Amino acid sequence: MYNGGKIIAGLIIFFGLVTFPFYSNFGKTANKVTPKLDTPVINQLEKKECVKPKEYMRTEHMKVLDEWRDEVVREGKRDKMIVGGIEIEKSLQNGCLKCHSNVKTFCDVCHTSSGVKPYCWDCHFIKEEGLL
Ligand code: HEC
Ligand code: HEC
Ligand code: HEC
Repeated sequence: MYNGGKIIAGLIIFFGLVTFPFYSNFGKTANKVTPKLDTPVINQLEKKECVKPKEYMRTEHMKVLDEWRDEVVREGKRDKMIVGGIEIEKSLQNGCLKCHSNVKTFCDVCHTSSGVKPYCWDCHFIKEEGLL
């Protein structure tokens, strides 16, 4: 066993190499990517704001979408709202995407990095408009 040291060192290196992809994936979460806020509509807002505070939106935006959908589809509440000085609808397309028209460089950069695939686009036709 006079080679024990080398074998152990070899094992350590081997183990490090094998697990490297896992370490290097660490931190590649939604917090590390930078979704682009630079769209024509957002650039012209009186006030750079979202429908809720940014920190809330960052983690809870799907709740807002769920609430809007229920209000519109189940309760028929289609009242518009003023955000950042412009009128928007409670709608994925005529609300969120009115400002965040850059689906690829906004929604998708986060979703891809966290392995999320919202199925919304199956029905909310944005492919045809070149947004996806
Ligand atoms: C099976 C098809 C389908 C899928 C999948 C789907 N929706 Fe919808 N959604 C609809 C239909 C139909 C309406 C009603 C449109 C209307 O009355 O204006 C609607 C309305 C909405 C509305 C309110 C009005 C509007 O035009 O945006 C929101 C918000 C919404 N959906 C969000 C979502 C989200 C978020 C997802 C993914 C998590 C999703 N939907 C997936 C079919 C779908
Ligand atoms: C009136 C324009 C407008 C609308 C409508 C809007 N947003 Fe935003 N959104 C913004 C702006 C501006 C910011 C950045 C706010 C800030 O920096 O404080 C933002 C921030 C966000 C963030 C956080 C981004 C980050 O860097 O962490 C998410 C997520 C988001 N919006 C999703 C949505 C979703 C989903 C909807 C629809 C339910 C929506 N937004 C509707 C303008 C809008
Ligand atoms: C700051 C990063 C970030 C941005 C920007 C962002 N998302 Fe998300 N989104 C996430 C993460 C992370 C999840 C998964 C959260 C979870 O599972 O708890 C998610 C989940 C969702 C879900 C729920 C999907 C599911 O299968 O449960 C919907 C719907 C959604 N996002 C829509 C949008 C839309 C539409 C936009 C662009 C207008 C957007 N998101 C922008 C990070 C982001």
